Amino acid sequence: MKNIKQSEIDLVTKVFSDVFDKYDLMNDVMSLGIHRIWKKNMIDWMAPQKGNHLIDVASGTGDIAKSFLDRINFQGKVTCVEPNELMLKAGKKKLKSFNEIQWISAGAEKLPFESESFDLYSVSFGVRNFFDINQSLKEAKRVLKTGGRIFCLEFSKVENEILKKLYKTYSKSIPYIGKYFTGKSEPYQYLVDSIDKFYSQEELSEIFRKNGFDKVKYRNLSGGIAAIHSGWKI
Ligand SMILES: C[S@@+](CC[C@H](N)C(=O)[O-])C[C@H]1O[C@@H](n2cnc3c(N)ncnc32)[C@H](O)[C@@H]1O
Repeated sequence: MKNIKQSEIDLVTKVFSDVFDKYDLMNDVMSLGIHRIWKKNMIDWMAPQKGNHLIDVASGTGDIAKSFLDRINFQGKVTCVEPNELMLKAGKKKLKSFNEIQWISAGAEKLPFESESFDLYSVSFGVRNFFDINQSLKEAKRVLKTGGRIFCLEFSKVENEILKKLYKTYSKSIPYIGKYFTGKSEPYQYLVDSIDKFYSQEELSEIFRKNGFDKVKYRNLSGGIAAIHSGWKI
C-alpha cells in the first residue's frame, strides 16, 4: 500500500470541512448546473433494476443515492459511505425522508462490509480524493457481488485543444469564484490542482484493470472535462 502522509489526509478532511455547508450551491455555481447532467448520465449508463443494492462511496450529500432511488421508484437500497462527518450530516439532513438510504462513516480504503454484499458500486467526484486508489478499488471489488459493476464519475482530460485552452482559463477563475461565494479560496485551489494532477481516461482505465475489473470502458462527458469509467467483477 502507498505510504499515505497524515498531512495529505488532514488536507482533504479540511477541504471538505471548509465547504460542507456550501457544497451543493458551489457545485451548481462552478459547473453551471452541468454536474447534475453528468450524474444523470452515470445513472443512465448504470441502468439500475428494482431490488438493486448500491454502495455509493464518497457520497458527500447523497446526490447519487437520490438519483438512483428516483430511477428505480424507491424499490431498492443505497448505502452511502462518507468519511467526513460534516458532509455525512449534511447528506442525512438533506435526504432525511429517504428511508432506503443507510449512512455509514468510513473511507473507501477500508469498507466495513462483508465481501459480495452489493450489486453496484458508484463513486462520483471522489476517486481523486482517495488516499490509496489501488486499495480502494480492491475494496470495491471485494464488496461487489460477482457479476456486479462499478461506475466512477470524475474530472478527466480534455482532448480538443481549443476546449482545453478555454477550460484552463476558466479553471484559473475557480478559486476567485469560490472566494466570492464562500470567503475561502484554498479549497477551490485544491480542486483545480487535484484535477490537474489526476489521471487521464486511459491511465484510469488501466488502474481499474490492474485492480481486477474486467471489460473496463469509459465515456467522455463535455469533451472530456469529466468521464465515467465502468468495469465488471466477473
Ligand atoms: C467532491 S465530493 C463528492 C461528493 C458526491 N459524491 C458528489 O458527487 O457530489 C468528494 C467526497 O469525497 C470524500 N472523501 C475524501 N476522502 C475520501 C476517502 N478516502 N474515502 C471516501 N470518501 C472520501 C469527501 O469527504 C467528500 O465528501
